[in-house]
Amino acid sequence: LTQTSASAIVISAEGWDTEAWSARVRAADPQRPVFVAPDVPDRAAVGYALVWKPPAGMLATFPNLRAIFSLGAGVDHLVFRDDLPAVPIVRVVNPDLTQRMTEWVTLQVLMHHRRQRAYDAQQRARRWRELETPAAADIRIGIMGLGVLGRDAAAVLSRLGYQVAGWRRGQGDVAGVRTYHGEAELDAFLGRTDILVSLLPLTAETRGLLAMPLFEKLAHDGALGGPVLINAGRGGSQVEADIVAALESRTLIGASLDVFEQEPLDAASPLWSREDTILTPHVAAWSDPAPLAEAIVTQIKAFEAGAPLTNTIDRAAGY
Ligand SMILES: NC(=O)c1ccc[n+]([C@@H]2O[C@H](COP(=O)([O-])OP(=O)(O)OC[C@H]3O[C@@H](n4cnc5c(N)ncnc54)[C@H](OP(=O)(O)O)[C@@H]3O)[C@@H](O)[C@H]2O)c1
Repeated sequence: LTQTSASAIVISAEGWDTEAWSARVRAADPQRPVFVAPDVPDRAAVGYALVWKPPAGMLATFPNLRAIFSLGAGVDHLVFRDDLPAVPIVRVVNPDLTQRMTEWVTLQVLMHHRRQRAYDAQQRARRWRELETPAAADIRIGIMGLGVLGRDAAAVLSRLGYQVAGWRRGQGDVAGVRTYHGEAELDAFLGRTDILVSLLPLTAETRGLLAMPLFEKLAHDGALGGPVLINAGRGGSQVEADIVAALESRTLIGASLDVFEQEPLDAASPLWSREDTILTPHVAAWSDPAPLAEAIVTQIKAFEAGAPLTNTIDRAAGY
């Protein structure tokens, strides 16, 4: 085998249903050999690795590897390590995953806006009482990270009538969304935000960003009576001790978290028992093997026919 013809796929995703993934890949491309690590009888045949948190050193053992596909949209499980061969890293971009994330973000925005937690408590107490609820048009949502996921959530939330703005690292405005850029415009973005939604990747720049100094800069004069934090990006971007302190001091009036500094979240975390906090176990946008395996195989076939790989990550930027 030469470097340009290795075509087998290896799948390595500890804790995931790798049998389901390999079955879907085989169904999409019955001619192509598919191995599930660590059972790889012919390492030289492997051209593509489909991975989630692959074991240290493993990817370097495939001499003819041509591309690494992350099975999740986030690539922090790959970029913060130095044992990867110098081949392109491709991340998941797929309408199925995007749709799931937009559902979760919209659900959380509505839970806080429509005060569902308070109504849950009233229902348990058999209490009939109306609570004041502002119009969507009076609520300012700020989305950190206007990438594939942030843009889709922004479009749906705009359609629901919220005032939606977004914040991104690079230049260029996103159509239909008031766009703020980089560190220079972060404070202005925070100052007009009642509900902060983070869909940021975890990078050197975003680590620990969602902390008390940032919460203090959010709008405190808004229609909800205080700001709300929603994070489905990465837990490494948040400081949980600060989130708890901010909720205690009403610097934040609510939070929805799908991601955590350490996963699974420790049973001793004070976040579990708070009435003002909604927790989900990193399920906002599940990687469903059926649509994703099909899309990856389609991309591999196009690549082998001469097309460039798409959705490759910039290793220097870290996403
Ligand atoms: N909880 C879940 O189930 C789940 C599922 C999938 C993904 N995720 C998370 O969601 C993240 C976003 O996914 P995506 O597909 O939308 O990624 P993406 O398309 O790469 O978008 C990332 C966005 O973040 C912005 N950004 C990155 N670093 C920044 C910085 N330092 N300052 C300001 N903005 C910054 C980028 O700015 P530019 O536009 O200027 O590049 C871009 O708008 C993933 O990285 C992953 O961590 C979570």
